[in-house]
Amino acid sequence: MTELVLPNDTNTLHNLMGGRMMHWMDIVSAIAAQKHSNRIVVTASVDNVSFAESIKLGNVVTLEAKVTRAFNSSMEVHIVVYAEDIPSGKKAMSNQAFFTFVAVDQLGNPIDVPEAIPETEEEIRLYNDALRRRQLRLVLAGRMKPREATELRSLFDIKEDEKN
Ligand SMILES: CC(C)(COP(=O)(O)OP(=O)(O)OC[C@H]1O[C@@H](n2cnc3c(N)ncnc32)[C@H](O)[C@@H]1OP(=O)(O)O)[C@@H](O)C(=O)NCCC(=O)NCCS
Repeated sequence: MTELVLPNDTNTLHNLMGGRMMHWMDIVSAIAAQKHSNRIVVTASVDNVSFAESIKLGNVVTLEAKVTRAFNSSMEVHIVVYAEDIPSGKKAMSNQAFFTFVAVDQLGNPIDVPEAIPETEEEIRLYNDALRRRQLRLVLAGRMKPREATELRSLFDIKEDEKN
């Protein structure tokens, strides 16, 4: 998805507002999740979005979104954002994030989605790491007990005899 940063997208310093960027990230990743699942999707969570460099008025912003892994009803989407200053020919990655979407039926209830099969080396790496990221976000959201987070056990230093 490509956007041009217009005056109404910026703050008083003429830089792109963070909220506008997150809106675009939400849209592009929702489209990726909808295309993968052929379903209506809702945003379930947004992993830390940070803004290292400001994006200027007049820059062209390119957002790329890809489903990294599908679980049951949820899908993790990786978004990479580039900012380009056309007159100077400078284009740089500005940020990236992982959003999670849940496919829902007509009543808004979660519904299973097809598996996502990684092909390239990078897709395989993102796919493999997605389980650890899922467990981390579910633990942080209070939806999974740290002791159930098998991929994170070493991080939380949970010993076998504390499992119960
Ligand atoms: C997301 C939502 C559908 C989950 O519904 P629920 O009744 O809690 O459903 P479940 O507990 O069965 O979870 C369904 C899936 O959501 C995932 N999920 C729920 N909360 C999550 C969170 N905070 N982060 C990541 N995934 C989450 C679960 O892991 C599960 O994934 P899986 O099916 O792949 O295993 C529901 O909470 C919802 O509709 N939220 C509002 C969404 C919305 O309006 N978004 C826009 C915000 S402005």
